[in-house]
Amino acid sequence: MQENPLIVALDVPDIAHAERLVDQIGDGASIFKIGYQLAPVGGFDLAQKLIASGRKVFFDLKYHDIGATVEKGVRSIASLGGNFLTVHAEKDVLSAAMRGKGEAEQLNILAVTVLTSLSQADLHESGYDIALKDLVLKRARRARDAGADGIVASALEAADIRREVGPDMLIITPGVRPQGAATGDQKRVVTPENAILAGANYIVVGRPITEAADPGRAAKAIAEEAMAAVARA
Ligand code: C5P
Repeated sequence: MQENPLIVALDVPDIAHAERLVDQIGDGASIFKIGYQLAPVGGFDLAQKLIASGRKVFFDLKYHDIGATVEKGVRSIASLGGNFLTVHAEKDVLSAAMRGKGEAEQLNILAVTVLTSLSQADLHESGYDIALKDLVLKRARRARDAGADGIVASALEAADIRREVGPDMLIITPGVRPQGAATGDQKRVVTPENAILAGANYIVVGRPITEAADPGRAAKAIAEEAMAAVARA
């Protein structure tokens, strides 16, 4: 059976809130993303509980440090049984991450290309004199060459990335919004269906689920839309 491609971002302030969401979402999703907000306040313990209960955990820690530190940090995530981990798409960071992963086949190292909250003007402001799309593709190639398992990128670039890196790498897309939902600070958004049709293997959705009046229902609707698109893709 096709795996549900929905990854729910548990961007909430405390574990009680996160556990409530996991309960409400039920079988609407089986992959949960734990990042900066939850990790320091018990997110790692929650991750172990989720993994023990058969769910998958995506650690969105966006590692970016010297190689030795990245390697040891990735090894710790591998030892927790993590399934996805983000690192920045720098050459040394990527190769250290792959060394840290070692034999931990369940762990997918995902390279972050350009954050979906950034626009071309933001890149320019930071001193990047390159088209956003070219930077995304350059970083995607670098990730593939380093042996990374996947790429995190906007669905607006997914089709180009797929052409660039071939069929084997995972493409994970945040910046997904159901029709009519608030975009928040995301500047490059697409619907769940269009993300999958553009070549995404997984979609990451946070606020449209975590801030919904009925998170379980919101997750289910998004997962169903994504799975219907998988069947048609
Ligand atoms: O609430 P929302 O659906 O915008 O959450 C998207 C999630 O994906 C956030 O946790 C954000 O940190 C993450 N993310 C992103 N863009 C990237 C990588 C990760 O929005 N390029």
